[in-house]
Amino acid sequence: MTEAAAGPTGLEVSGLVKDYPAPAGFLRVLDGVDLQLRPGEAASVMGASGCGKSTLLFLLGAIETPSDGVVRLDGVDPHELSLDDQARFRRDRVGFVFQDHCLLPQCTALENVLAPTLPDPREGDRSRAAALLDRVGLSGRVDHLPAELSGGEKQRVAIARALVRAPRLLLCDEPTGNLDGESAAGVADLLLEAGALDEGRMVVLVTHDAELGGRFPKRYRMHGGRLTDG
Ligand SMILES: Nc1ncnc2c1ncn2[C@@H]1O[C@H](COP(=O)(O)OP(=O)(O)OP(=O)(O)O)[C@@H](O)[C@H]1O
Ligand SMILES: [Mg+2]
Repeated sequence: MTEAAAGPTGLEVSGLVKDYPAPAGFLRVLDGVDLQLRPGEAASVMGASGCGKSTLLFLLGAIETPSDGVVRLDGVDPHELSLDDQARFRRDRVGFVFQDHCLLPQCTALENVLAPTLPDPREGDRSRAAALLDRVGLSGRVDHLPAELSGGEKQRVAIARALVRAPRLLLCDEPTGNLDGESAAGVADLLLEAGALDEGRMVVLVTHDAELGGRFPKRYRMHGGRLTDG
């Protein structure tokens, strides 16, 4: 892969279009999204249900393919990579935090954080995973199963898991949607600090929640398939 040579130039998105097939032809969900983040910047994207927020994250993380436009993370367009390199890009360069924590129910907190490292284990994975659990305030819960954790604790495990490969880009889809106010504020604090854990990390969070979105240094609104400053 050539991405290491590209250097840390940030996230550059231009003219991003996404059409989904629909009975009447296609449904245009994104219609020319532009977004630039410098290394270390964190942004929120707010907008109504169904406006395309999750779709945007799926395109940024190379889970879905754009119909048109360009995504570049540190100069690399993941949609131009081979399938193998694209899988490596998703694993090493991008971290996802979803509304539902998506933890493996039969695995402990520590095992869940380590799960993304299993296809390509490296020295220090275990100590990094333990340090991240400590960082999210769960050093006393490493051997707990998800069923033995509160909602906020589960989401904090999910954040540690998303960060275990030290991704350049952390993508968060309504990560506090299932939490009460206090737990939500704690999770938001962690996401805002995520950039500081590894220098230059960028964060994109999508949410309906104006209070959560308003805490991010850069704020965008999605409407009519485009982003505007908000
Ligand atoms: N795989 C798909 N095939 C067809 N249409 C889809 C698909 N995924 C999403 N859509 C449609 O695209 C639009 C945008 O969906 P998306 O999930 O991105 O919205 P959202 O802004 O994340 O909404 P919410 O806030 O409710 O999560 C919706 O109208 C949805 O029905
Ligand atoms: Mg969504």
